[in-house]
Amino acid sequence: MSKKSQKFEGDPNTTGHEWDGIEEFDNPMPRWWLWTFYATIIWGVLYTVAYPAWPLINGATAGVLGWSTRADVAAEITAVEEANAPVNAKLEAAELNAIAEDPELGSYAVSAGSAVFKTWCAQCHGSGAAGAKGYPNLLDDDWLWGGSVEDIHATITHGIRNEDSDEARYSEMPAFGRDELLEKEEISQVVNYVMSLSAEPQDASKVEAGSVVFADNCASCHMEDGTGDRAQGAPNLADAIWLYGGDYETLTETVSNSRYGVMPAWNTRLTEAEIRAVSSYVHQLGGGE
Ligand code: HEC
Ligand code: HEC
Repeated sequence: MSKKSQKFEGDPNTTGHEWDGIEEFDNPMPRWWLWTFYATIIWGVLYTVAYPAWPLINGATAGVLGWSTRADVAAEITAVEEANAPVNAKLEAAELNAIAEDPELGSYAVSAGSAVFKTWCAQCHGSGAAGAKGYPNLLDDDWLWGGSVEDIHATITHGIRNEDSDEARYSEMPAFGRDELLEKEEISQVVNYVMSLSAEPQDASKVEAGSVVFADNCASCHMEDGTGDRAQGAPNLADAIWLYGGDYETLTETVSNSRYGVMPAWNTRLTEAEIRAVSSYVHQLGGGE
C-alpha cells in the first residue's frame, strides 16, 4: 500500500494516477496553447477549402481560390515578357550593326541570345557552338555564308536548304560520282589536289591532273584558288577547316555523293527580337565580322 503524499493548501486536484507515491496534478491546458491548437485546426480546414487539397479519382479538389502552380508560372512568364517588352521593341527597331555598340542593348541581346541558343541551336551546333561533323563551328572566323551580323541574321531567319522558307539560302554541289560526272580516277586526282591546298599529306603524282579537274568542275563554286564562295555557301577548301572532314575517304565521299546540309528557318519559330538576340550572340562568339 502506498503512502499518500502530503497535500498542501491550494494544490490542484490530482488525476488519480500514482507511481511510487508520485501523483499527477490535474492542471488545465494553458489557454494560449489551447487557442493556438484550435486556430491550427480552423486554419487547416480553411486551407483545404481555399487551395487544391483533397485527392479525388482524377486529380484533386481545385480550391475556391482557383490557385495552381501552372497559372503561377504562366503569370510569371507574362510578367517577364511585359518587363522585357520595351527592350525587345528597341531591339527590333535598332539597326543590326548598332546593337553591339549600345552597351545596354548589346548585353541584353547577348544574354537573351545565349538562352535562345541553348534552347534551339545547341542540339546541332553544340552547347558551346563548336559544331560537329556537318554542323559548322560558329566560334571561328570560317564562314560558309558570311560572318557579318546581317549575314548571320539572314542565315538564321530563313535557314539553309529547307522547305520552310522560300528565301532559305540555297545551293547544291553536284554528286560527281553518283551522277557520273567524273570518273573514279578523276575524283581521286581532284581529292589529292584538294588535300594539297591545305598541305594534307597527299599522293603528289595526282595533284597536277587534279588541278585541271578542279579548274573545270569545282572552281565555279569554290573559286580558282579553292578559297570558296559565300554567295553559294561553298566552303573554303584551302584553310584546313573542314565541315565534313579532310581525309582521303571523307573527301572522296563528299565529292562522289555531295552533301546537302539543312538548317531550319527560324522566323516561323522565334520572334524577330529572339532572332536578333541570337544573331548578336553568335556574332560576338569570336568569328563575327
Ligand atoms: C537541325 C540542326 C540545326 C539547328 C537546330 C540549327 N542549325 Fe544552324 N546550321 C545547321 C547546318 C547543317 C548548317 C550548315 C549548312 C550548310 O552546309 O550550309 C548550319 C549553319 C548555320 C550558320 C551559318 C554558319 C556559316 O558558316 O555561315 C549559322 C550562323 C547558324 N547555323 C546558326 C544557328 C542558330 C543561331 C541556330 C538556333 C536558332 C541554329 N543554327 C540551329 C544545322 C542546324
Ligand atoms: C555548284 C557549286 C559547287 C560545285 C561545282 C562544287 N562544290 Fe563542293 N561544295 C559546294 C557546297 C555548297 C558545299 C557545302 C556542303 C553542302 O552541300 O552542305 C560544298 C562542299 C564541298 C566540300 C566539303 C568541305 C568540308 O569542309 O567538309 C568539299 C571537299 C568540296 N565541296 C569539294 C568540291 C570539289 C572537289 C568539287 C569539284 C569536283 C566541288 N566541290 C564542286 C558547292 C559546290
